[in-house]
Amino acid sequence: MDLDGDFLVIGGGIAGLRAALSLSDAGDVILLTKGDPSESNTGYAQGGIAAALGPDDSPELHARDTIAAGGGLSVPAAVDVLVREGPRYVRELVEWGAAFDRDESGAPALGREAAHSVRRVLHARDATGREIARVLGSRAGGNPHIRVIGDAVATGLHLTGGACTGANFVTAAGERGRVAADATLVATGGAGYIFRETTNPALATGDGIAMAARVGARIMDLEFVQFHPTALDLDGSPRFLLSEALRGEGARLVNHLGEPFMERYEPAGDLAPRDLVARAMVREMTRTGAPVYLTMAHLDPAFVLGRFPAIALACARVGLDLAHDRLPVSPAAHYMMGGIETDLDGRTSVAGLFAAGEAACTGVHGANRLASNSLLEGLVFGARAAAAMQRPPRPSALRSEGVVDAPLPGGSAGPIPTAHIVRSLMWRSVGLLRERRALEATVRRLERWIGAATLREPESGSAERRRVFSLVMVGWLVARAALRREESRGAHFRTDFPERDDLHWNKHISDRLYV
Ligand code: FAD
Ligand code: SIN
Repeated sequence: MDLDGDFLVIGGGIAGLRAALSLSDAGDVILLTKGDPSESNTGYAQGGIAAALGPDDSPELHARDTIAAGGGLSVPAAVDVLVREGPRYVRELVEWGAAFDRDESGAPALGREAAHSVRRVLHARDATGREIARVLGSRAGGNPHIRVIGDAVATGLHLTGGACTGANFVTAAGERGRVAADATLVATGGAGYIFRETTNPALATGDGIAMAARVGARIMDLEFVQFHPTALDLDGSPRFLLSEALRGEGARLVNHLGEPFMERYEPAGDLAPRDLVARAMVREMTRTGAPVYLTMAHLDPAFVLGRFPAIALACARVGLDLAHDRLPVSPAAHYMMGGIETDLDGRTSVAGLFAAGEAACTGVHGANRLASNSLLEGLVFGARAAAAMQRPPRPSALRSEGVVDAPLPGGSAGPIPTAHIVRSLMWRSVGLLRERRALEATVRRLERWIGAATLREPESGSAERRRVFSLVMVGWLVARAALRREESRGAHFRTDFPERDDLHWNKHISDRLYV
């Protein structure tokens, strides 16, 4: 199936859908999406979307909190765009029918999450992403200029004279196709699934990052992987997220004796930034030799069940009562701060290729993302990328201070790992706590796997082969970046370099591959 469009959008989460809606005013859009919108990270989002809309809030305050969480690496110009343009796009979502919760006065009810200095998070109970996906998805579905091809996996990008001119794809039925387009947007989301323990759905394999890396696009800041502190940790159950909004409404982290412990490690207690909470939990588990728990038993059960119905239902399915039980929790990979390096308009280092949302790296989150800023980023930068895709081409204004050129590993004929092997390796060696020896060994193993001849041509392989290719490719880029950064900052923690080192490392670094 060969298709022609003015614009190609790969990905049907918040970034891809928002971009497609703008692009449809200027031409015909083809949108490829690998799965049902409910299975995107957008569909999974719980806590909400941050925007400076409250009477005690301002874009300046939102920027200050975002930059404080970002460990010195948030790009101020990107933060400025996010916080200033965010409210307008969130209001637009409301105009389009997003049913966010409201307070008694009819204004959007604003939730509290860690490291936000005021209540700032709009939410639709505890299933905000599902509501946003519903609104954007139905708008795109009814738009005659957007052709959505569902169950279509993009397998590789085309380059013509160094510029991106579209992509190949394969459908669930095995039919192969090609889309030719003047401009292509990668909005394929994150790659949490490269880790064995993750809050992300199985679709989050980082395909777009892997595809962009293969055509030489710059990939920035991949060492910064956010581990969410409170994923349910029950043998045999999925790592269901227990939203930070629970702590925003008063939930406490306690040890096996029922003692709150966060203040022992962090002055901000349960509402410290995620990286600090996650590491404090590991320290408490090590100190006590026992699990840690989240509890809401001291709060009004009617409030808890009314405010968090989806989480309560997920808990009930595994025999837990959200309002009364202690819920076993531990950190799990949640969000990629890094990705395909873009400027403020989604341009990458490859002409004709744009990126937005979690697959992209504008630098807005620095080394650690502030809760609920990701949906906002997808909305704002999805729309901005769409605007830039309609303008005459011009070079991107990228920001990384260092670019490392490296060959795509090749030539080693070895066994191909299973997805489980790759994900377990990543979790063990490139997880919350990292150190040189394990990182070096992991980089070498991943290089051999990428180099295995069968993996060099993922486009012609089976669906599983392609999936493993994305996992090893993105895993390798994450591990390389984590090995290179010999300091600890934000979500990247090296036990052998536990201090932040602004003298040498206060910078963004990108990898650029060549064959
Ligand atoms: P996604 O929503 O992940 O969409 C990616 C799309 O790309 C999907 O449609 C997928 O099918 C498609 N795709 C992928 N690969 C291919 C391919 N090869 N070919 C074709 N299509 C492809 N952020 C917040 O701001 N607030 C929250 O409350 C919040 N809660 C979260 C809760 C959970 C459990 C998780 C996992 C994340 C949460 N996040 C939250 C993060 C946020 O949801 C994501 O960062 C954001 O939704 C990413 O949007 P996106 O459009 O970039 O990607
Ligand atoms: C959560 O609800 O805790 C997730 C919010 C986010 O990742 O921004």
